[in-house]
Amino acid sequence: MNRTRTQVGIVGAGPAGLTLAHLLHRDGIDSVVVEDKSREYVEARVRAGVIEQGIVDLLTEAGAGERLVREGLVHHGIELQFDGERHRIPLSELAGGRAIVIYGQTELVKDLIRLRLDAGQPLHFEAADVSVHDLETERPLVRYRYEGSDEELDCDVIAGCDGFHGICRPSIPAGVLSEFSREYPFGWLGILAAVAPSNDELVYAHHERGFALLSLRSRERSRLYLQCRPDEDLAKWPDDRIWEELQTRLGIPGWRLAEGAILEKGVTGMRSYVCEPMRYGHLFLTGDAAHIVPPTGAKGLNLALHDVEVLADALVEWFRSGTTIGLDQYSDTCLRRVWRAEHFSWWMTRMLHRADDEDSFDLKLQLSQLRYVTTSHAAATSLAENYVGLETV
Ligand code: APR
Ligand code: PHB
Repeated sequence: MNRTRTQVGIVGAGPAGLTLAHLLHRDGIDSVVVEDKSREYVEARVRAGVIEQGIVDLLTEAGAGERLVREGLVHHGIELQFDGERHRIPLSELAGGRAIVIYGQTELVKDLIRLRLDAGQPLHFEAADVSVHDLETERPLVRYRYEGSDEELDCDVIAGCDGFHGICRPSIPAGVLSEFSREYPFGWLGILAAVAPSNDELVYAHHERGFALLSLRSRERSRLYLQCRPDEDLAKWPDDRIWEELQTRLGIPGWRLAEGAILEKGVTGMRSYVCEPMRYGHLFLTGDAAHIVPPTGAKGLNLALHDVEVLADALVEWFRSGTTIGLDQYSDTCLRRVWRAEHFSWWMTRMLHRADDEDSFDLKLQLSQLRYVTTSHAAATSLAENYVGLETV
Protein backbone atom coordinates (compact mmCIF):
# COMPACT_ATOMS: atom_id res chain seq x y z
CA MET A 1 0.00 0.00 0.00
CA ASN A 2 1.38 3.44 -1.00
CA ARG A 3 0.47 6.19 1.43
CA THR A 4 0.51 9.82 0.24
CA ARG A 5 -0.29 12.94 2.15
CA THR A 6 -1.98 15.92 0.50
CA GLN A 7 -4.04 18.91 1.58
CA VAL A 8 -6.98 18.40 -0.78
CA GLY A 9 -7.96 15.07 -2.33
CA ILE A 10 -9.93 15.80 -5.50
CA VAL A 11 -12.11 13.03 -6.91
CA GLY A 12 -12.93 13.58 -10.59
CA ALA A 13 -11.10 15.36 -13.42
CA GLY A 14 -14.05 17.09 -15.05
CA PRO A 15 -14.15 20.87 -15.29
CA ALA A 16 -14.92 21.20 -11.55
CA GLY A 17 -12.06 19.01 -10.26
CA LEU A 18 -9.49 20.36 -12.70
CA THR A 19 -10.38 24.01 -12.09
CA LEU A 20 -10.30 23.50 -8.33
CA ALA A 21 -6.87 21.87 -8.57
CA HIS A 22 -5.63 24.79 -10.64
CA LEU A 23 -7.02 27.51 -8.34
CA LEU A 24 -5.53 25.79 -5.28
CA HIS A 25 -2.15 25.32 -6.90
CA ARG A 26 -2.04 29.04 -7.74
CA ASP A 27 -2.42 29.70 -4.02
CA GLY A 28 0.22 27.18 -2.98
CA ILE A 29 -2.15 24.46 -1.82
CA ASP A 30 -1.36 20.84 -2.69
CA SER A 31 -3.88 18.49 -4.16
CA VAL A 32 -4.04 15.13 -5.89
CA VAL A 33 -6.65 14.61 -8.60
CA VAL A 34 -7.99 11.06 -8.98
CA GLU A 35 -10.01 10.22 -12.11
CA ASP A 36 -11.39 6.82 -13.03
CA LYS A 37 -11.45 7.32 -16.81
CA SER A 38 -8.51 7.68 -19.20
CA ARG A 39 -7.14 11.03 -20.35
CA GLU A 40 -8.24 10.21 -23.93
CA TYR A 41 -11.79 9.52 -22.78
CA VAL A 42 -12.05 12.68 -20.69
CA GLU A 43 -10.64 14.81 -23.50
CA ALA A 44 -13.00 13.38 -26.10
CA ARG A 45 -16.27 13.74 -24.18
CA VAL A 46 -18.46 16.26 -26.02
CA ARG A 47 -20.37 18.40 -23.55
CA ALA A 48 -21.69 21.95 -23.16
CA GLY A 49 -20.17 25.02 -24.76
CA VAL A 50 -21.56 28.25 -23.32
CA ILE A 51 -19.42 30.05 -20.73
CA GLU A 52 -20.63 33.03 -18.71
CA GLN A 53 -18.56 36.20 -18.73
CA GLY A 54 -17.88 35.89 -14.98
CA ILE A 55 -16.46 32.40 -15.44
CA VAL A 56 -14.32 33.52 -18.38
CA ASP A 57 -12.95 36.24 -16.07
CA LEU A 58 -12.30 33.70 -13.28
CA LEU A 59 -10.35 31.43 -15.63
CA THR A 60 -8.46 34.29 -17.22
CA GLU A 61 -7.42 35.78 -13.88
CA ALA A 62 -6.27 32.33 -12.79
CA GLY A 63 -4.09 31.97 -15.90
CA ALA A 64 -6.27 29.24 -17.44
CA GLY A 65 -8.08 31.31 -20.05
CA GLU A 66 -5.44 31.99 -22.67
CA ARG A 67 -6.83 29.75 -25.46
CA LEU A 68 -10.39 30.39 -24.31
CA VAL A 69 -9.93 34.11 -24.90
CA ARG A 70 -8.05 33.53 -28.17
CA GLU A 71 -10.39 30.97 -29.72
CA GLY A 72 -13.68 31.44 -27.89
CA LEU A 73 -16.43 33.23 -29.79
CA VAL A 74 -18.03 36.11 -27.90
CA HIS A 75 -21.80 36.29 -28.36
CA HIS A 76 -23.91 39.29 -27.39
CA GLY A 77 -27.34 37.83 -28.07
CA ILE A 78 -29.44 34.73 -28.66
CA GLU A 79 -32.56 34.16 -30.73
CA LEU A 80 -35.86 32.66 -29.66
CA GLN A 81 -37.93 31.17 -32.47
CA PHE A 82 -41.67 30.44 -32.34
CA ASP A 83 -44.57 30.59 -34.78
CA GLY A 84 -41.99 30.45 -37.57
CA GLU A 85 -40.26 33.72 -36.59
CA ARG A 86 -37.02 34.58 -34.83
CA HIS A 87 -36.75 37.21 -32.13
CA ARG A 88 -33.39 38.42 -30.86
CA ILE A 89 -32.68 38.85 -27.16
CA PRO A 90 -29.82 41.37 -27.01
CA LEU A 91 -28.14 39.87 -23.96
CA SER A 92 -25.32 42.39 -23.53
CA GLU A 93 -27.53 45.41 -24.06
CA LEU A 94 -29.92 44.14 -21.41
CA ALA A 95 -27.40 42.75 -18.94
CA GLY A 96 -24.96 45.58 -18.31
CA GLY A 97 -22.64 44.77 -21.21
CA ARG A 98 -21.94 41.22 -20.15
CA ALA A 99 -21.73 38.51 -22.84
CA ILE A 100 -21.24 34.75 -23.19
CA VAL A 101 -18.34 32.93 -24.80
CA ILE A 102 -18.78 29.86 -26.97
CA TYR A 103 -15.98 27.43 -26.19
CA GLY A 104 -16.39 23.66 -25.84
CA GLN A 105 -16.16 22.19 -22.36
CA THR A 106 -13.93 19.56 -23.97
CA GLU A 107 -11.46 22.26 -24.98
CA LEU A 108 -11.47 23.76 -21.51
CA VAL A 109 -10.80 20.32 -20.01
CA LYS A 110 -7.86 19.83 -22.41
CA ASP A 111 -6.42 23.23 -21.40
CA LEU A 112 -6.73 22.46 -17.68
CA ILE A 113 -5.16 19.01 -18.01
CA ARG A 114 -2.21 20.48 -19.89
CA LEU A 115 -1.72 23.19 -17.23
CA ARG A 116 -1.81 20.61 -14.45
CA LEU A 117 0.69 18.30 -16.11
CA ASP A 118 2.99 21.16 -17.14
CA ALA A 119 3.04 22.26 -13.50
CA GLY A 120 4.16 18.73 -12.58
CA GLN A 121 1.17 18.28 -10.28
CA PRO A 122 -0.44 14.87 -9.61
CA LEU A 123 -3.36 13.90 -11.85
CA HIS A 124 -4.05 10.17 -11.79
CA PHE A 125 -6.12 8.87 -14.70
CA GLU A 126 -7.57 5.36 -14.84
CA ALA A 127 -7.72 5.04 -11.07
CA ALA A 128 -9.79 1.97 -10.17
CA ASP A 129 -12.08 1.26 -7.20
CA VAL A 130 -12.01 4.83 -5.92
CA SER A 131 -13.55 5.15 -2.45
CA VAL A 132 -13.65 7.83 0.28
CA HIS A 133 -13.46 7.18 4.05
CA ASP A 134 -13.44 8.82 7.50
CA LEU A 135 -15.31 11.83 6.13
CA GLU A 136 -16.42 13.07 9.53
CA THR A 137 -12.85 13.14 10.85
CA GLU A 138 -9.96 15.62 10.41
CA ARG A 139 -8.11 13.07 8.24
CA PRO A 140 -10.42 11.83 5.49
CA LEU A 141 -8.96 9.27 3.07
CA VAL A 142 -9.25 8.49 -0.62
CA ARG A 143 -8.38 4.89 -1.56
CA TYR A 144 -7.87 3.64 -5.11
CA ARG A 145 -5.78 1.37 -7.28
CA TYR A 146 -3.35 3.08 -9.62
CA GLU A 147 -0.81 1.51 -11.99
CA GLY A 148 -1.08 -1.81 -10.17
CA SER A 149 -0.69 -0.48 -6.59
CA ASP A 150 -3.11 0.20 -3.78
CA GLU A 151 -3.04 3.89 -2.97
CA GLU A 152 -4.16 5.65 0.18
CA LEU A 153 -4.39 9.41 0.07
CA ASP A 154 -4.42 11.06 3.46
CA CYS A 155 -6.15 14.49 3.16
CA ASP A 156 -7.29 17.49 5.15
CA VAL A 157 -10.40 17.69 3.01
CA ILE A 158 -11.86 15.85 0.06
CA ALA A 159 -13.55 17.61 -2.85
CA GLY A 160 -16.19 15.40 -4.47
CA CYS A 161 -16.01 16.59 -8.10
CA ASP A 162 -17.01 13.24 -9.56
CA GLY A 163 -20.21 14.17 -11.37
CA PHE A 164 -23.73 12.88 -10.96
CA HIS A 165 -22.80 9.18 -11.11
CA GLY A 166 -19.74 9.45 -8.89
CA ILE A 167 -19.04 7.78 -5.55
CA CYS A 168 -18.69 10.79 -3.24
CA ARG A 169 -22.33 11.72 -2.80
CA PRO A 170 -23.40 8.07 -2.20
CA SER A 171 -20.66 7.78 0.47
CA ILE A 172 -22.53 10.22 2.70
CA PRO A 173 -24.58 8.27 5.27
CA ALA A 174 -28.28 7.86 4.58
CA GLY A 175 -30.48 10.53 6.13
CA VAL A 176 -27.90 13.34 5.97
CA LEU A 177 -28.82 14.79 2.58
CA SER A 178 -32.13 16.17 1.43
CA GLU A 179 -32.68 15.54 -2.27
CA PHE A 180 -34.88 17.51 -4.65
CA SER A 181 -35.47 16.39 -8.21
CA ARG A 182 -37.59 16.51 -11.31
CA GLU A 183 -37.46 14.23 -14.34
CA TYR A 184 -38.56 15.47 -17.74
CA PRO A 185 -40.38 13.23 -20.21
CA PHE A 186 -37.91 14.03 -22.98
CA GLY A 187 -34.23 14.18 -23.86
CA TRP A 188 -31.99 15.86 -26.41
CA LEU A 189 -30.49 14.19 -29.45
CA GLY A 190 -27.30 16.17 -30.06
CA ILE A 191 -24.96 16.22 -33.03
CA LEU A 192 -21.63 17.82 -33.79
CA ALA A 193 -21.33 18.54 -37.52
CA ALA A 194 -18.47 19.60 -39.78
CA VAL A 195 -20.24 22.61 -41.19
CA ALA A 196 -20.09 26.35 -40.54
CA PRO A 197 -22.92 27.49 -38.25
CA SER A 198 -25.91 28.70 -40.27
CA ASN A 199 -26.65 31.58 -37.92
CA ASP A 200 -24.38 34.02 -36.10
CA GLU A 201 -26.11 33.44 -32.77
CA LEU A 202 -27.75 30.51 -30.96
CA VAL A 203 -31.35 29.79 -31.94
CA TYR A 204 -33.70 28.22 -29.38
CA ALA A 205 -36.71 27.02 -31.38
CA HIS A 206 -40.17 26.20 -30.10
CA HIS A 207 -41.92 23.96 -32.64
CA GLU A 208 -45.05 21.81 -32.67
CA ARG A 209 -42.87 18.73 -33.33
CA GLY A 210 -40.65 19.60 -30.36
CA PHE A 211 -37.78 21.87 -29.38
CA ALA A 212 -34.62 22.33 -31.47
CA LEU A 213 -31.42 24.26 -30.80
CA LEU A 214 -28.85 25.61 -33.21
CA SER A 215 -25.51 26.11 -31.52
CA LEU A 216 -21.86 25.95 -32.53
CA ARG A 217 -18.38 25.12 -31.38
CA SER A 218 -16.31 27.18 -33.79
CA ARG A 219 -16.52 28.88 -37.17
CA GLU A 220 -16.31 25.43 -38.80
CA ARG A 221 -18.37 23.29 -36.41
CA SER A 222 -22.09 23.34 -35.71
CA ARG A 223 -23.69 21.80 -32.64
CA LEU A 224 -27.38 21.02 -33.01
CA TYR A 225 -30.01 19.43 -30.80
CA LEU A 226 -33.50 17.98 -31.22
CA GLN A 227 -35.95 17.21 -28.46
CA CYS A 228 -36.53 13.45 -28.42
CA ARG A 229 -37.66 10.73 -26.01
CA PRO A 230 -35.37 10.23 -22.99
CA ASP A 231 -34.70 6.64 -24.16
CA GLU A 232 -34.55 7.49 -27.87
CA ASP A 233 -32.91 4.76 -29.96
CA LEU A 234 -30.14 6.38 -32.02
CA ALA A 235 -30.28 3.49 -34.47
CA LYS A 236 -33.59 4.94 -35.67
CA TRP A 237 -31.89 8.23 -36.50
CA PRO A 238 -29.77 7.91 -39.63
CA ASP A 239 -28.10 11.20 -40.56
CA ASP A 240 -30.68 12.07 -43.23
CA ARG A 241 -33.51 11.84 -40.76
CA ILE A 242 -31.69 14.08 -38.27
CA TRP A 243 -31.08 16.78 -40.88
CA GLU A 244 -34.65 16.59 -42.14
CA GLU A 245 -36.05 17.02 -38.65
CA LEU A 246 -33.65 19.88 -37.89
CA GLN A 247 -34.67 21.58 -41.16
CA THR A 248 -38.33 21.29 -40.18
CA ARG A 249 -37.99 22.53 -36.62
CA LEU A 250 -35.45 25.29 -37.24
CA GLY A 251 -36.78 26.33 -40.65
CA ILE A 252 -38.05 29.83 -41.36
CA PRO A 253 -38.95 31.31 -44.75
CA GLY A 254 -35.90 32.33 -46.80
CA TRP A 255 -33.35 30.47 -44.64
CA ARG A 256 -31.93 26.98 -44.83
CA LEU A 257 -29.77 25.09 -42.38
CA ALA A 258 -26.42 24.16 -43.94
CA GLU A 259 -25.72 20.41 -43.60
CA GLY A 260 -22.41 18.59 -43.24
CA ALA A 261 -20.79 15.40 -42.04
CA ILE A 262 -21.99 14.34 -38.58
CA LEU A 263 -18.92 13.79 -36.40
CA GLU A 264 -20.65 12.75 -33.19
CA LYS A 265 -24.17 11.98 -32.00
CA GLY A 266 -25.71 11.14 -28.67
CA VAL A 267 -28.84 11.29 -26.54
CA THR A 268 -28.91 13.00 -23.14
CA GLY A 269 -31.68 12.73 -20.61
CA MET A 270 -32.98 15.84 -18.89
CA ARG A 271 -33.29 16.20 -15.15
CA SER A 272 -33.20 18.70 -12.35
CA TYR A 273 -31.57 17.58 -9.11
CA VAL A 274 -30.16 19.24 -5.98
CA CYS A 275 -28.82 17.74 -2.77
CA GLU A 276 -28.52 19.76 0.41
CA PRO A 277 -26.22 20.45 2.09
CA MET A 278 -23.30 20.23 -0.34
CA ARG A 279 -21.03 19.14 2.49
CA TYR A 280 -20.62 16.30 4.94
CA GLY A 281 -17.83 16.70 7.50
CA HIS A 282 -14.62 17.16 5.54
CA LEU A 283 -16.17 16.19 2.19
CA PHE A 284 -17.32 19.05 -0.07
CA LEU A 285 -19.43 18.27 -3.14
CA THR A 286 -19.10 20.45 -6.25
CA GLY A 287 -20.73 20.66 -9.69
CA ASP A 288 -22.72 17.75 -11.07
CA ALA A 289 -21.94 15.68 -7.95
CA ALA A 290 -24.33 17.96 -6.05
CA HIS A 291 -26.74 19.31 -8.68
CA ILE A 292 -27.98 18.81 -12.22
CA VAL A 293 -29.88 21.20 -14.45
CA PRO A 294 -31.51 20.45 -17.80
CA PRO A 295 -29.25 21.91 -20.53
CA THR A 296 -31.75 24.47 -21.82
CA GLY A 297 -30.31 27.32 -19.76
CA ALA A 298 -26.66 26.34 -20.48
CA LYS A 299 -25.89 26.51 -16.76
CA GLY A 300 -24.29 23.12 -15.84
CA LEU A 301 -20.66 23.97 -16.52
CA ASN A 302 -21.01 27.50 -15.15
CA LEU A 303 -22.56 26.35 -11.88
CA ALA A 304 -19.79 23.79 -11.41
CA LEU A 305 -17.16 26.50 -11.78
CA HIS A 306 -18.99 28.91 -9.47
CA ASP A 307 -18.92 26.17 -6.81
CA VAL A 308 -15.18 25.61 -7.09
CA GLU A 309 -14.49 29.33 -6.99
CA VAL A 310 -16.31 29.54 -3.64
CA LEU A 311 -14.62 26.38 -2.36
CA ALA A 312 -11.13 27.44 -3.42
CA ASP A 313 -11.51 30.82 -1.66
CA ALA A 314 -12.79 29.14 1.51
CA LEU A 315 -9.98 26.57 1.52
CA VAL A 316 -7.28 29.19 0.95
CA GLU A 317 -8.66 31.21 3.85
CA TRP A 318 -8.80 28.11 6.07
CA PHE A 319 -5.28 26.90 5.27
CA ARG A 320 -3.88 30.42 5.75
CA SER A 321 -5.62 31.51 8.91
CA GLY A 322 -7.50 28.56 10.32
CA THR A 323 -10.84 30.30 9.95
CA THR A 324 -13.71 28.00 9.01
CA ILE A 325 -16.18 30.76 8.18
CA GLY A 326 -15.91 30.29 4.40
CA LEU A 327 -16.10 26.50 4.64
CA ASP A 328 -19.07 26.69 6.99
CA GLN A 329 -20.87 28.97 4.53
CA TYR A 330 -19.83 27.01 1.43
CA SER A 331 -23.04 25.06 0.99
CA ASP A 332 -25.44 27.94 1.63
CA THR A 333 -23.45 30.30 -0.59
CA CYS A 334 -23.45 27.84 -3.50
CA LEU A 335 -27.05 26.77 -3.06
CA ARG A 336 -28.36 30.30 -3.54
CA ARG A 337 -26.90 30.35 -7.06
CA VAL A 338 -27.78 26.71 -7.65
CA TRP A 339 -31.47 27.29 -6.96
CA ARG A 340 -31.54 30.40 -9.16
CA ALA A 341 -30.08 28.32 -12.00
CA GLU A 342 -32.46 25.44 -11.23
CA HIS A 343 -35.41 27.78 -11.59
CA PHE A 344 -34.07 29.43 -14.75
CA SER A 345 -33.28 26.10 -16.44
CA TRP A 346 -36.66 24.60 -15.51
CA TRP A 347 -38.42 27.75 -16.76
CA MET A 348 -36.55 27.78 -20.10
CA THR A 349 -37.21 24.06 -20.48
CA ARG A 350 -40.95 24.39 -19.83
CA MET A 351 -41.28 27.35 -22.14
CA LEU A 352 -39.61 25.64 -25.11
CA HIS A 353 -40.33 21.90 -25.04
CA ARG A 354 -43.37 20.00 -26.13
CA ALA A 355 -44.68 17.54 -23.56
CA ASP A 356 -46.46 14.38 -24.79
CA ASP A 357 -49.51 15.12 -22.72
CA GLU A 358 -49.44 18.81 -23.55
CA ASP A 359 -52.96 20.12 -23.94
CA SER A 360 -53.75 23.26 -25.86
CA PHE A 361 -53.84 25.26 -22.62
CA ASP A 362 -50.14 24.58 -21.94
CA LEU A 363 -49.26 25.37 -25.54
CA LYS A 364 -51.09 28.70 -25.37
CA LEU A 365 -49.24 29.55 -22.16
CA GLN A 366 -45.87 28.75 -23.78
CA LEU A 367 -46.59 30.97 -26.76
CA SER A 368 -47.83 33.78 -24.55
CA GLN A 369 -44.66 33.54 -22.44
CA LEU A 370 -42.46 33.57 -25.55
CA ARG A 371 -44.27 36.62 -26.90
CA TYR A 372 -43.90 38.36 -23.54
CA VAL A 373 -40.20 37.59 -23.23
CA THR A 374 -39.53 38.87 -26.74
CA THR A 375 -41.60 42.05 -26.48
CA SER A 376 -41.32 43.22 -22.86
CA HIS A 377 -38.07 44.92 -21.88
CA ALA A 378 -38.51 43.75 -18.29
CA ALA A 379 -39.12 40.10 -19.23
CA ALA A 380 -36.26 40.06 -21.75
CA THR A 381 -33.94 41.61 -19.15
CA SER A 382 -34.83 38.87 -16.69
CA LEU A 383 -33.94 36.19 -19.24
CA ALA A 384 -30.76 38.01 -20.26
CA GLU A 385 -29.33 38.54 -16.78
CA ASN A 386 -29.93 34.90 -15.87
CA TYR A 387 -28.48 33.67 -19.16
CA VAL A 388 -25.24 35.66 -18.94
CA GLY A 389 -24.97 34.85 -15.21
CA LEU A 390 -26.08 36.98 -12.27
CA GLU A 391 -23.33 38.84 -10.47
CA THR A 392 -25.02 38.45 -7.10
CA VAL A 393 -27.67 35.95 -6.07
N1 APR B 1 -13.71 8.11 -9.31
C1 APR B 1 -13.00 9.06 -9.95
N2 APR B 1 -13.54 9.87 -10.89
C2 APR B 1 -14.82 9.68 -11.18
C3 APR B 1 -15.62 8.72 -10.54
C4 APR B 1 -15.01 7.89 -9.57
N3 APR B 1 -15.68 6.95 -8.94
N4 APR B 1 -16.87 8.80 -11.04
C5 APR B 1 -16.86 9.77 -11.96
N5 APR B 1 -15.63 10.32 -12.07
C6 APR B 1 -15.18 11.38 -12.95
C7 APR B 1 -15.83 11.36 -14.33
O1 APR B 1 -15.20 10.43 -15.19
C8 APR B 1 -15.62 12.80 -14.76
O2 APR B 1 -14.38 12.98 -15.42
O3 APR B 1 -15.53 12.64 -12.42
C9 APR B 1 -15.63 13.59 -13.47
C10 APR B 1 -16.88 14.42 -13.29
O4 APR B 1 -16.92 15.39 -14.30
P1 APR B 1 -18.29 15.99 -14.90
O5 APR B 1 -19.32 14.92 -14.99
O6 APR B 1 -17.94 16.72 -16.12
O7 APR B 1 -18.79 16.99 -13.74
P2 APR B 1 -18.30 18.42 -13.29
O8 APR B 1 -16.81 18.52 -13.30
O9 APR B 1 -19.08 18.72 -12.07
O10 APR B 1 -18.77 19.40 -14.44
C11 APR B 1 -20.11 19.72 -14.67
O11 APR B 1 -20.02 18.79 -16.82
O12 APR B 1 -21.54 17.05 -17.10
C12 APR B 1 -21.20 18.31 -17.47
O13 APR B 1 -23.16 19.40 -18.08
C13 APR B 1 -22.28 19.19 -17.03
O14 APR B 1 -21.35 21.09 -17.83
C14 APR B 1 -21.57 20.39 -16.64
C15 APR B 1 -20.26 19.99 -16.13
C1 PHB C 1 -24.23 23.66 -26.64
O1 PHB C 1 -23.70 24.33 -27.53
O2 PHB C 1 -23.86 22.51 -26.39
C2 PHB C 1 -25.38 24.22 -25.88
C3 PHB C 1 -25.73 25.54 -26.07
C4 PHB C 1 -26.79 26.06 -25.36
C5 PHB C 1 -27.50 25.26 -24.50
C6 PHB C 1 -27.12 23.94 -24.28
C7 PHB C 1 -26.05 23.41 -24.99
O3 PHB C 1 -28.55 25.78 -23.81
